Amino acid sequence: MTLWSGRVGGSLDPAVWAFLHADDAPLLPYDCEASFQHAQRLHAAGLLSDAELAEAERRLAEIALDPSGYVEADEDVHSAIERQLGDLGRKIHAGRSRNDQVAAAFRLYVLDACGEARDQIAALALVVLSLAEAEVDTLMPGYTHLQRGQPVTLGHHLLAWVEMLDRDRTRFAAAAAAARESPLGAGALAGSTLGLGGAPGQMRNSIDAVADRDFALDYLYAVSILYIHLSRIGEEIVFWCSGEFGFVKLPENAATGSSMMPQKLNPDVAELARGKAGTAIGRLTGLLAAVKGLPLAYDRDLQEDKAPVFAARLDTRLGLQALAALVAGLGVDRERMAQAASDPLVLATDAAEALVLEGVPFREAHERVAASVRDGSFVPTGTAADSVAARGAPGPGGVRDALAEARARWSC
Ligand code: ARG
Repeated sequence: MTLWSGRVGGSLDPAVWAFLHADDAPLLPYDCEASFQHAQRLHAAGLLSDAELAEAERRLAEIALDPSGYVEADEDVHSAIERQLGDLGRKIHAGRSRNDQVAAAFRLYVLDACGEARDQIAALALVVLSLAEAEVDTLMPGYTHLQRGQPVTLGHHLLAWVEMLDRDRTRFAAAAAAARESPLGAGALAGSTLGLGGAPGQMRNSIDAVADRDFALDYLYAVSILYIHLSRIGEEIVFWCSGEFGFVKLPENAATGSSMMPQKLNPDVAELARGKAGTAIGRLTGLLAAVKGLPLAYDRDLQEDKAPVFAARLDTRLGLQALAALVAGLGVDRERMAQAASDPLVLATDAAEALVLEGVPFREAHERVAASVRDGSFVPTGTAADSVAARGAPGPGGVRDALAEARARWSC
């Protein structure tokens, strides 16, 4: 029996039923929580007794913990909960619609997913910080265009990853803020006559309350940029562990072998981080496209909002945890990095700047050093170690200061 069988006679064609069915089981505990919030409003309006509210609390807590109560014959998670509540279920839908119900539950889901992402981002950042701490003095070339540019330390480079992750957690906080308001009280789109409005945190406009999916887009956007960062980190690890770079060795608990080539150790975790970034972007663009032409307020198209968010949450969790395991086990080949950083040409900029300090205009200094590089007579004055120290932040002293500041920021 559907929630709308009073109006639509007979049973639906199985193909129609299969098409309409929502894959929304992950919403179960969140919908139970939102349903209890709605029950509290009914109680405050004098429409549920103390005993009924207590029963709602107890039963919803049980239903939340038992996914097996949601069966094939239920149209969606909302129908499953109402059915399991029995007689109380027949009262509890007063003043609400599945339109505000699904939006309320989905917002709680996204809020939770944002908190989870922030915790797991912090866990990865702490792993990167530990590696950076161990590699404060490790010299390496810094790159632009994937060509050697100027010497840096690996610690400084790893702190760049930490900055990316810091912005990610800010983005998840913003998505959480967007999800925090409540659409309850909006009913189908225009409220009810039952005096359920006015609760703190309630959305201002009932039509917007049921039509808005910005919070889901914000979440998918935050996941997309996070994954773009994981992809860029992954790409660097792929380069660094190649025979050509040889900067790092993959840990055997986070690498794979080849089914045919016995010698191989492959960076599949790093590659899949790169691959899943594409999927993450696709989920965001899919939902953007689904929402873009919809008239206010609710349309069934909006059912398509959940699957990408559920999948994005799983990939966020899996990707951050796997990357943390990979980074924690990376074996840095300091000699190989130092050898690459000892390329005299990475000191060409310092040579030009030394001339500037002697009063030569920079363009002329650049031309003089470039000419000596071109004719093969460039000789640097100092070493890569002198160079990073002279530039402050990329050198060991600067990295130690930056690490102390970052540790304080991430431990709160
Ligand atoms: N499964 C639906 C969704 O995810 C729930 C809302 C259905 N509302 C409706 N008026 N048919 O959006």
